[in-house]
Parts: sequence; structure tokens; C-alpha cells
Amino acid sequence: MSKTRVLTGITTSGTPHLGNYVGAIRPAIAASRAPGVESFYFLADYHALIKVSDPARVQRSTLEIAAAWLACGLEPDKVWFYRQSDIPEIPELTWLLTCVAGKGLLNRAHAYKAAVDKNRAEGEDDDAGISAGLFMYPVLMAADILVFNAHKVPVGRDQVQHIEMARDFGQRFNHLYGEHFTLPEAAIEEQVATLPGLDGRKMSKSYDNTIPLFAPRAELKKLIAGIVTDSRAPGEPKDTEGSALFQLYQAFASRDETAAFARAYADGIGWGDAKQQLFERIDAEVAPLRERYEALMAKPGEIEAILRDGAARLRVQHATPMLRQLREAVGLRDLSTSPVVAAGAPSRREAAALPVFKQYRDADGKFYFKLVQGERVLLQSVGFASPRDAGQRVAAIKQGEVGDAASDFMLGDGVTEDEVNAALSAFVAAQLEGTAGPG
Ligand code: TRP
Repeated sequence: MSKTRVLTGITTSGTPHLGNYVGAIRPAIAASRAPGVESFYFLADYHALIKVSDPARVQRSTLEIAAAWLACGLEPDKVWFYRQSDIPEIPELTWLLTCVAGKGLLNRAHAYKAAVDKNRAEGEDDDAGISAGLFMYPVLMAADILVFNAHKVPVGRDQVQHIEMARDFGQRFNHLYGEHFTLPEAAIEEQVATLPGLDGRKMSKSYDNTIPLFAPRAELKKLIAGIVTDSRAPGEPKDTEGSALFQLYQAFASRDETAAFARAYADGIGWGDAKQQLFERIDAEVAPLRERYEALMAKPGEIEAILRDGAARLRVQHATPMLRQLREAVGLRDLSTSPVVAAGAPSRREAAALPVFKQYRDADGKFYFKLVQGERVLLQSVGFASPRDAGQRVAAIKQGEVGDAASDFMLGDGVTEDEVNAALSAFVAAQLEGTAGPG
């Protein structure tokens, strides 16, 4: 059986903080040790250029993040570990995807929309100060994922939309050019997907509320002392709900420890004591990693060599053959070979398109379904009172229970019964193979 490919990237625009550790690095490394997994970890340095124009900071951050992942237990001979800008196939694929990406979809990307909303609130032109790089961010990210046909992408909730976009671009490309891409899924660690920062908002560089992952002990203690709390005095019961301190604790503690901490809250633990406990808990996990990190940071040449080696092997095994195949698929071809499909003829993809059921509500308020194959409508239903009725009928037909002389749907224009039967059996066969479309 082939392995599940799990891919994760971190933008090299800052110093690794506890939020990166809990939300991305720790779960990804744990997942990489599961059997049946092929892991991809990379430094998203092209993404960094969207936010950072200080070259020294990009370099410094790339080094720090690489050292952080290695210190946290990444094994570069067991997983793919590389730097985005060492794989030229990624920007090349970005262009191919740009040509199928809907601009309207990109308009709805959270990061871009937030920038536009801010401009509006300030009475500026919608796109004032917004680079095309920010706008295209989701396409570059889709290329990161699709180039290796990753199955799973562990991300924070804020990135889920980007994975959905990657699926959308991949699906459009597949629809036009054949099945080249696996559609990725976001994997969120339900418990602790996002960590609060010092001020209680999500821990993020942009809020300047982070706790650096490898802050020296004394600094870690000082930062934790600065976490916002309410003004309840020692002895007064405290709410765990909405407490940044509690959420941070939970992210590092076992279930039993967390339960004990919740009891301490109910019993009125003082904030000073609670902060001391949080500090000790975090430091217990981080101290051994910090030691390895400092040793690695002293040898940047070794980190550079590890990254280059990872990218070189990954290109040979995956990226270069993948782009060769994609270039061929879109028509960037050797001119001395004859075209695979004559212009104007239906593509292989269209000829082989699977039938799909589409459900919709019409202007009369009733619920309908139709079975379509490519552009052709094979079946058209009558109106049903509820979406559930229509859905159940579709489910039955998909199981092969068409029913004799069914009267709740009719054949499309110029469609024969044989054609419908052929389409339905292709449908059932594809479902058995687990490759059916979204019908
Ligand atoms: N956008 C991600 C972040 O800000 C970083 C990233 C870039 C990424 N490309 C990716 C994450 C591909 C997962 C997969 O955290």
C-alpha cells in the first residue's frame, strides 16, 4: 500500500514561537513517526518575501526555523526536509495553477480581504499598498502542496481556507488536463490548533504577542509573568474558559495535569502561582530541545548542507518528473512530437468524464436532481418537496435501484435508455473503486 503523504510548511519571516511549536512542528513530527506516512517539511521562504523586505531577517529566520525543526526531533534521513526556494518546480507550477485559479476565489481569501477591509475603513483605495504577491499567496501555497501530491496538510484553522483553495485549483486543473493532482485535506489538531499569545489573542507575529520557542529560561519566565489575566485575587475561583494561561497550560500538559490545573482554578489559585506552574510545565518540555537548538545554531553550514541535500533528492524523485508530466499535459511540448489530441477533438478527459448527480432548487421552490455527463444532461427529475426526498432518490439510483418504469425522472433530450444504463453502471463501478466524483 502506498504511504500517506503529509506536508507542512512554515513561513520564514520570524523567530519560531510556542504557537508554531504546538500548532505545527510538534504534531507534524509526531505524525511523521506514524507507520505508513511519508512526511514533507519545508521552509516557505518564497512566502516570507510577501511580508518581509529585510533580506537579513529572511536569512536569519530561515536558519532559526530549520534549526528549530531539527532540534525538535526531525530526522532528515527519514523525512523530506527542504527549502521552498531550492525547488524551482514550485514557482513553475505556481504559474500553471495561476492560469486555472479563479480570480473571484482569490478575492475571497481571508488575508487579502482583511487588507482590503482595512483600506476601506481608512478611506483608502481598496488595493492600496497590497502587493500581487499577497493576492497570489494561496496559489503559491497550492503549488507547494500539489507538486508532491500531498494527502494531508496539518495547519491551523486560519489556513484551512488555503487548503480548500488548493483543492479547488487542483480540481480545475484535473478537470481540464486529466487526473494529475491528489486533492489535499487539512488536518487540524482539534485540542490545540491555535495557541493564545501574551494578550489572549491568537499567538502571532503580527500581534507582537509571541513567546519565542527557545527563549532562555529567565526570559521565558518573564514573558509568562506578563500574560494577561483578570483581576481576581488569590482565593477567588477563576474561570478556565477564556483563560489564555489555562489554554497554554493545556497545550503542554497531559489530561490529568490539565484536570488538576482546572481544579486549582476552581479552588482559587493565585495568578502568580498559576504562572509559575505554567512556566515549569513548558520549560520541562522545551529545555532539552533548547540545548540541541543552541548546538545547531552554532553550525549553520551543516544546516545548509542538510537542506540542499533534501531538495536535490526530492527534485529527482518527485518534482522534476512531476513538472515534466504537467508541462506535457498543458501543451508545453517538444514540437517534434505529434500532438496527442487534435485541436477541436474532445480531450481524453471529456470523453471519459464520469456522470455526476447534481441537486438544486429551482425558481418554483422545489428540489430537483439531474444526472449530467460533461455537458450532457442524461436524466432530469421532477420536482421534490424537500432536498431530503430528492437526495434519497439519488442515493437509491446510485445503488442501482432505479425502479421499473420510474416516473419521477425523464431522459434528457436525445438520450437513450442504453446510454443512461451505461452511465449508471460506470458510476457504480467507479464508486466501487472509490474514485467517483462528487456526484
Ligand atoms: N501559509 C503557511 C503559514 O503561514 C505556510 C505555508 C506555505 C504552508 N506553504 C504551505 C503550510 C503549504 C502548509 C502547506 O503558516
